[in-house]
Amino acid sequence: MAISMLCGAENLTLIRRGITPKGFCFLGSDFHGKQIPKVSPVPRTKLSKTRTFIAPNCSLSASSRPSSQPRFIQHKKEAFWFYRFLSIVYDHVINPGHWTEDMREEALEPADLNDRNLFVVDVGGGTGFTTLGIVKHVDAKNVTILDQSPHQLAKAKQKEPLKECMILEGDAEDLPFPTDYADRYVSAGSIEYWPDPQRGIKEAYRVLKLGGKACLIGPVYPTFWLSRFFADVWMLFPKEEEYIEWFQKAGFKDVQLKRIGPKWYRGVRRHGLIMGCSVTGVKPASGDSPLQLGPKEEDVSKPVNPSVFLVRFLLGAMAGMYFVLVPIYMWLKDKVVPQGRPI
Ligand SMILES: C[S@@+](CC[C@H](N)C(=O)[O-])C[C@H]1O[C@@H](n2cnc3c(N)ncnc32)[C@H](O)[C@@H]1O
Repeated sequence: MAISMLCGAENLTLIRRGITPKGFCFLGSDFHGKQIPKVSPVPRTKLSKTRTFIAPNCSLSASSRPSSQPRFIQHKKEAFWFYRFLSIVYDHVINPGHWTEDMREEALEPADLNDRNLFVVDVGGGTGFTTLGIVKHVDAKNVTILDQSPHQLAKAKQKEPLKECMILEGDAEDLPFPTDYADRYVSAGSIEYWPDPQRGIKEAYRVLKLGGKACLIGPVYPTFWLSRFFADVWMLFPKEEEYIEWFQKAGFKDVQLKRIGPKWYRGVRRHGLIMGCSVTGVKPASGDSPLQLGPKEEDVSKPVNPSVFLVRFLLGAMAGMYFVLVPIYMWLKDKVVPQGRPI
């Protein structure tokens, strides 16, 4: 069904300037590097605008992936410790290879940030790289950055354009906002760490106002075997059809997916991408999501075995290193292989 539609730290600490109160379309390329013609530009327009879809060219069906992948860095505690260290180099080492300013503009375009007075929540906002793109279009005082990592948020707090943003420690799967609160929900590169992505997307739905729009930017699953192996060991790389299914199940309408990627990949997606797509959906009715879910997958208060934790953490972090190297490899290939030839 989804495939057939393929065209188209638990404490919540408010920190504001140091105060601590209590439908779907593809643009870009297919998985194999062939350029897909730009059929449907996604303009910055009103939410109701009809969009054109093109036929899918996807690799794998949602059910073809085993659910037994280890995903060593996919629990909240693992992600917390991962970013304890990664936050030190995040902006300088990770983003340049995977999440450039150009990509950010492309990815935020379907979010329709068309009014400076919009209320925007940036969930898993980390060091504020995506928020820097948001505050170009929306007044910073209307923007909230939420993340479970105080270390990542500490970096965001240092950024001058984000000084007026509200900075909040919290969990994407249990947002500390009232129902029908925000005009836009943005989350970039965070879903891969959520133990239960469907729950996070259901939360996106809940906190949006009627007619509000969610824009979720995330990885795409590799098709090349070695990349797939490391992706599965590291964290969640959803397939495009999974994003669509999660959005639709949460109750979103006008669900669309826009492919993104670094320029020097020349559209190649077989190694997967940490930031490979921007998925948007519109909330058609006020109130909570129609989707009912059971209890949370992960109980963060439950004690963990430190040895198991350490082994999982090290294996996961090592697998993540592969994805630091892939963009370098692709960058070199782009330099060596003449333009116009497949890489
Ligand atoms: C790859 S970073 C992306 C940061 C930022 N959005 C950007 O564009 O650079 C992923 C972020 O998601 C956060 N994160 C992971 N799991 C989370 C959760 N359950 N709730 C809130 N934030 C989470 C991490 O702490 C990290 O800062």
